[in-house]
Amino acid sequence: MLNRRALMGAGAALLPSAALAQQAAGVVPPLPEAQRNLRYRPEREITPEREATTYNNFYEFGTSKNIVREASRMPMRPWTIQVDGMVAKPATFGVDDLIRQLPIEERIYRLRCVEAWAMTVPWTGFQLSELLKLVEPTSAARYVSFTTAQLPAVMPGLRQSWYPWPHVEGCTVAEAMNELTFMPIGMYGKPLLAQNGGPFRVVFPWKYGFKSGKSVVRITLTDRRPENFWFKIQPSEYGFWANVNPEVAHPRWSQATERLLGSGERVPTRLFNGYGEFVSGLYTNLQRERLWA
Ligand code: MTE
Repeated sequence: MLNRRALMGAGAALLPSAALAQQAAGVVPPLPEAQRNLRYRPEREITPEREATTYNNFYEFGTSKNIVREASRMPMRPWTIQVDGMVAKPATFGVDDLIRQLPIEERIYRLRCVEAWAMTVPWTGFQLSELLKLVEPTSAARYVSFTTAQLPAVMPGLRQSWYPWPHVEGCTVAEAMNELTFMPIGMYGKPLLAQNGGPFRVVFPWKYGFKSGKSVVRITLTDRRPENFWFKIQPSEYGFWANVNPEVAHPRWSQATERLLGSGERVPTRLFNGYGEFVSGLYTNLQRERLWA
């Protein structure tokens, strides 16, 4: 999968400063061999890599979609992730040690942003449940929170003090243990770039993209529902569950269709972003909750 010419050619223009220097110095190792898991069918063309790596939401680096230059200043190693809270074996892992310990595979998932654009990406990574098994959640744990790094020296967005930094997102333990919940360490066969949440992030392909916290440094198991970043900013627009539903409009726009990055084509949005067969059972007793925004 690793295409050396693409990395040296078009890719190099997107990889300035810290990230490029660290890759060139071998500090960020190449991805391990990863088999594509065919259980998760994309049912769409893969989004051109250039689109997926240059049109980003990562407010720590700024509120525009064009944050590649700022994000590429973020050093990607050393990087540790602390996994703590209601677990029998809390631990702090170096990212490369973790990658060596866990089964790594490739999955092509659709990602639907709440802003009504979408992309289809080949992620390389591990199932979150494999990491959680290492720390052994206790039976009292109900929720999982994901905290993004706060690096003021390279993240100009943190100066926007009206945002509730750090970026924290969360889900239930049942959602975290679902087979779809994935921690990418790479995309398009290459280590995950900073703008896409390198060295690793979480993705929930059936939820709006704002749930997928980037550049994660801490995962905490708790018995209290985490107040997520966007909920704190605008609770009427962004909820805890945020499952994709074309029939429930955002207060300011319809969610019935989505624009594909790359082709610009508009296509219908699907319930649970088309992943209902894997996840609808998680919500059967929660009809009174605001599941869809
Ligand atoms: N994580 C952090 N830490 N900060 C952010 O601003 N934006 C979210 C999510 N994760 C965001 C974040 C939103 S709104 C989306 S749609 C996805 O990241 C976008 O991921 P991408 O840039 O890889 O497409």
